[in-house]
Amino acid sequence: MPTDLTNQYPAAGVAVDVRRLIRLADRLLTECGVADHTVSMLLVDDREMTRLNNHYRGKNKPTNVLSFPFAEGADESLASIPVKELGDIVISVDTALRESIEFGQTLFERLTWLTIHGMLHLLGHDHERSAADEQAMLVKEQELLDKVKNHRRTTMTKLAINVDHVATIRQARGIADPDPVAAAAICEMAGASGIVIHLREDRRHIQDRDLQLLRQTIKTKLNLEMGANKDIITVALDLKPDLVTLVPEKREELTTEGGLDVLAQKKKIAKVIEKMARESIPVSIFADPDPAQLAAANEIGATFVELHTGKYCDAKNESERNHEFMLLSSAAEEAARMGLRVCAGHGLNYYNTAPIAELDTVEELSIGHAIIARAVFVGLDRAVRDMLAIIRQADMTI
Ligand code: PXP
Repeated sequence: MPTDLTNQYPAAGVAVDVRRLIRLADRLLTECGVADHTVSMLLVDDREMTRLNNHYRGKNKPTNVLSFPFAEGADESLASIPVKELGDIVISVDTALRESIEFGQTLFERLTWLTIHGMLHLLGHDHERSAADEQAMLVKEQELLDKVKNHRRTTMTKLAINVDHVATIRQARGIADPDPVAAAAICEMAGASGIVIHLREDRRHIQDRDLQLLRQTIKTKLNLEMGANKDIITVALDLKPDLVTLVPEKREELTTEGGLDVLAQKKKIAKVIEKMARESIPVSIFADPDPAQLAAANEIGATFVELHTGKYCDAKNESERNHEFMLLSSAAEEAARMGLRVCAGHGLNYYNTAPIAELDTVEELSIGHAIIARAVFVGLDRAVRDMLAIIRQADMTI
């Protein structure tokens, strides 16, 4: 981990999103060209900050941030540092909170600025040296702030619900019930931001009749998942969904098994995107969290990528899950930095969704099976609201 964060702040009433702060500091190390260095962060209250400020600077009062470069006292050039450590950044959350109210910012916005400020000090900037140094530091601060803020979502994470599973139950009997069209209406009334359906070549669940009715009745957003197959492309161009999500499709699979290999079929996928663009249908690519696939999706003009969360959800243990989470988190950062809009889905349930919903690069989650499975026992309205509550809670983590 490039950033090591210790939270000594007594959390009464104020919870700091530590994971998000670590991601921010990791990103800053990269933006500053020192991704191979580590930085230590410490969150304290005003009492501890006053003690430190008095001890190291002879000032018996709190301050917002203190930086302790690892190389201080020796030759300060980075090249002379034997261990690749930048040093320590200490932030008083009490002061950050007061300043955030004063400047009309969220606490996290203030912590972002303080982390940038602290890191620039570690890198040798000093606004107290001269007016020119102060100006240079201000410019650099703004530059970094723009870089880390430019692709953040400012709205709540949206929930799009896949109603294929309702159609699967219906098809098991070959009769009219349960109807995915009715399910979609209930999902929307419970607060879903979109409805997802996968029109498979073998029509194993969603039928052509469903498409037409859903197109007419959905009030939020219809996302049509599909393979890049000629007949299905014709259906999509005619239907004009609000979004097309391209997925790999194998007849024998139970559910979509992996992300689309865009690299291996760039020309073919580019053509589908072009066709959809002529009808003003944006395209999302269902992709594994692999930077090369994301770059290819971006190059051929995809608007969104939907990151495949399957491996994260299927992880056998905590360390595997953490590893998969880090891949998703950095892939989301990378995709957003390229200018792609980011969604995520597959396998998400009531126990593993919160960390993904906390990623401020991910604007929408696509969830099906877990919600329909819970709906069997508690009803669809309640199942949707339960998931939305988890997402809202994750969104409110500051
Ligand atoms: N996203 C895509 C691209 C999918 O293929 C599926 C499965 O239909 C989902 C999301 C939803 O996955 P789950 O049903 O496991 O929530």
